[in-house]
Amino acid sequence: LLDHLHTDRRSPVVVENPTYPGALAVLRARRARLLAVPVTAPGGWDIARLTDAVRRHGPRLAYLMPDFHNPTGAHMDAATRRTTAALADRYGMTVLADETMRDLDLRTPPGTEPHLAGARVIQIGSASKTLWSGLRIGWIRAGAELVRQLRLNPLQAQLSPPPLEQLIAAELLGVPLPDLLADRRDRLRAQRDHLAGLLTATGWTYTVPDGGLTLWVRLGAGTSATELAARAAARGLAVTPGPHFAADRTTLTRHLRLPFTATKETLTRAVGLLRACSGSPETA
Ligand SMILES: Cc1ncc(COP(=O)(O)O)c(C=O)c1O
Repeated sequence: LLDHLHTDRRSPVVVENPTYPGALAVLRARRARLLAVPVTAPGGWDIARLTDAVRRHGPRLAYLMPDFHNPTGAHMDAATRRTTAALADRYGMTVLADETMRDLDLRTPPGTEPHLAGARVIQIGSASKTLWSGLRIGWIRAGAELVRQLRLNPLQAQLSPPPLEQLIAAELLGVPLPDLLADRRDRLRAQRDHLAGLLTATGWTYTVPDGGLTLWVRLGAGTSATELAARAAARGLAVTPGPHFAADRTTLTRHLRLPFTATKETLTRAVGLLRACSGSPETA
């Protein structure tokens, strides 16, 4: 729906590397030229690289996930948010801040980072990660003029989910979020720690994220994430290898995204299977 923001096809679109494959798919379908800036865990965003890329290439649009970035789980500190918003103002770049994971803060107590906000920042979110993955209701928080334009866009009706689902989401959004999420956060925290514990014996490296739904794992030297994911898929386990998250599709070959959305029992089975597929000597 927001694609018309990217009208000047000569200017590139900034994406993080790695980034959410769904966003890559949309941008690729629109033949956008991608300008990738790295995000690492725990390092996060390299603001000097981002500034340099914006200055040199003049992108009009940037798609960023400042809150528990998918897949690394990194989150932007307040100063980097301010600098990013200022950069957008200065260079006339619209920032699409995807806040889909923002409420899945697993810190106790949750953090207090401000939203990535500013005159050129549009925030987008979804109920599907916080409330229920079957409830695919998204939203756009933007200035009144843009919202008015979007409501006039005929695609808006086609892209909107069914009214019943919208009503369910509207009802749920009236319930205080902390009440709604307390349980889910507790469960995710326990599952995240369980998964991290299972991985200690593998020799693979990762940073335990402060929020979100996934662990971003770096495999041992010489292990191809794509091959490992294919072997796991043949045995019934679906995991997504690093190149799916890479703007150029070819890098991040040693990375694997492991969700901790499953129960502890399932996670235990999944890691056992991954280790069996990777030829880890201590395999059960
Ligand atoms: C960062 C991010 N943004 C957006 C989405 C899409 O959300 P929805 O399920 O509402 O389509 C996802 C889903 O995986 C996501 O991880």
